[in-house]
Amino acid sequence: MKREPVFMLGKETMEKIAADHGSPLLVVSLDQIEENYKFLKEHLPRVRIYYAMKANPYVRILERMIELGSSFDVASVGEISLLKSLGVDGEKMVYANPIKMPSGFRSCKEAGVFKMTFDNASEVDKIAKEFPGATVLLRMRIENSTAHVDLNKKFGASVEEALPLLLKAKEAGLDMAGIALHVGSQTMQADPYLSALDDATQIFKIAKENNIDLRILDIGGGFPIPEPRVKFNLQEILGQINARLDEDFPNTEIWAEPGRFICGTAVNLITSVIGVTTRNGEPWYFLDDGLYGTFSGVLFDQWDFKIISFKEGEQEKAVFAGPSCDSLDVMFRGKTTVKLDVGDLLLVPSCGAYTSASATTFNGFEKTEMIVWEDIKAKYSEEEISAVS
Ligand SMILES: Cc1ncc(COP(=O)(O)O)c(C=O)c1O
Repeated sequence: MKREPVFMLGKETMEKIAADHGSPLLVVSLDQIEENYKFLKEHLPRVRIYYAMKANPYVRILERMIELGSSFDVASVGEISLLKSLGVDGEKMVYANPIKMPSGFRSCKEAGVFKMTFDNASEVDKIAKEFPGATVLLRMRIENSTAHVDLNKKFGASVEEALPLLLKAKEAGLDMAGIALHVGSQTMQADPYLSALDDATQIFKIAKENNIDLRILDIGGGFPIPEPRVKFNLQEILGQINARLDEDFPNTEIWAEPGRFICGTAVNLITSVIGVTTRNGEPWYFLDDGLYGTFSGVLFDQWDFKIISFKEGEQEKAVFAGPSCDSLDVMFRGKTTVKLDVGDLLLVPSCGAYTSASATTFNGFEKTEMIVWEDIKAKYSEEEISAVS
């Protein structure tokens, strides 16, 4: 399958869109979302995909994922209600937050969400009380220091802790169905997945020896998007994971919860320079979107965004700050750029994951509007669309 890994607007199209719709502006390609979904389905054919909507819950993205037949990883009342309002059946959701709120359980009952994860004994008691008979997956802890964001610092039971928890869940009358894991976000090698699958194999075996027949393995998210500094071959990584799944889990139902991979490469931010100054000999550029907005991913996701100016000229190091009156609102220091002027437009590709999802309205700045490329593209030259690897 031909793959365009990154949706990226060209200079003229960016300028025309900004003239028509203003700046800052987010542009999402739903076709890129679809391509990303299909790529994962092609390379992990046995996997049932639960899109981790926390990465980007924009309604049009959710609608496209629904059309494609995706299921969803949810973590809160808000996410469950939003999907419900879009007509998603509770069977298509997994409540993948190992620590659940009372309101979350109520929402699950209302929406018919009966699949959930846990990683400790207290949660088993909570689930048994609030949702007797729920289908549960034990979230395991994975060692993976190479992950960009290591979720295992917060969640997961070790292999040693697994058996008592599995037994407790079974005794509490829950449908003790499987194991869930997350190797950590933006994992760029196969090894962490393979070693997590080794641990999962061990837990499945221990469970069987104790008369618990596990039938589901949820391999989580973590699938990486291209980034400038590290090269990796995703096809190869997925091939290795798939081969191992066939070898060790031939009759197990396999789930995955991709977030970043589905939406990360599908969104471009158009932002403009609203202020310029020099401090201690260093240029400072103030943009109309900042750390409290789309660039919240710099803080919450520790992500380093590529900023493209289509201008030519000598490169120098500069500071990029956001529009609010807070001194924390600085996104990048020492970022290489050409000299910029007030009014210059900049393009930020691959900013669809953990960006607008965590943006705030701090200081009265509205969240940046998102529009759909396929709604407007007929108006602009298709030649301007390029794909970069
Ligand atoms: C339980 C769970 N599943 C899936 C994801 C999505 O991970 P990623 O965006 O790395 O694919 C997350 C991210 O926080 C998560 O916590």
